[in-house]
Amino acid sequence: MAEHHLQPVTQAKIDTVALTPLSASPRGWISCVLADFDAFMQDHASAEKKASGMALSMVSHYPDQPALVQAMVDLAVEELNHYKEVMRLLMAKQITPAADRKDPYVTRLNKLVRKDAAFFLLDRLLVGAIVERRGAERFALVAEHVADSELQKFYTAIAKSEERHWHLFVQLARDLCGHLPVDCRFCELADLENALVAELPVRPALH
Ligand SMILES: [Fe+2]
Ligand SMILES: [Fe+2]
Repeated sequence: MAEHHLQPVTQAKIDTVALTPLSASPRGWISCVLADFDAFMQDHASAEKKASGMALSMVSHYPDQPALVQAMVDLAVEELNHYKEVMRLLMAKQITPAADRKDPYVTRLNKLVRKDAAFFLLDRLLVGAIVERRGAERFALVAEHVADSELQKFYTAIAKSEERHWHLFVQLARDLCGHLPVDCRFCELADLENALVAELPVRPALH
């Protein structure tokens, strides 16, 4: 059995009571994923690579915010490790990695980020939190339903990791944007995300 090195570099325990819960993914999503698991894993690899790139883009955008830089550098490394692990599994199964494709879910959520400098950081952090939270929910569903025991362990570890990540993003938003109504904005975005997930077609992909 392969060891998965997905240990967190950042631990954040946060109070989530005031935050709008996530709706369950549509019932057909997990069946669609299980019906074409190779495609799901190809998409998953891309999603991890993009998550690492997103964390690095935060570093580039806010070099003057040391707490953010440190957290995002750690996150970029952790996401890249996830990518490495998914790629290792793909290669072991002799699945050819696929080219990155546009993710309609992430594209739509990014459109909700207000460009005004007063809100840009807050919205980016909270969209990050919401994407990670949905990832945690879906990876947990995969872990619960996939038959292969190595994949069960892998996706259980990935789900725990993404759970920590959404907490990290909320914590950063509260620490760095505490002058703004952070929880309130989270709830607005969560409502919009819940509606988006119900509307988007299901695919053998993370989103
Ligand atoms: Fe990840
Ligand atoms: Fe993540």
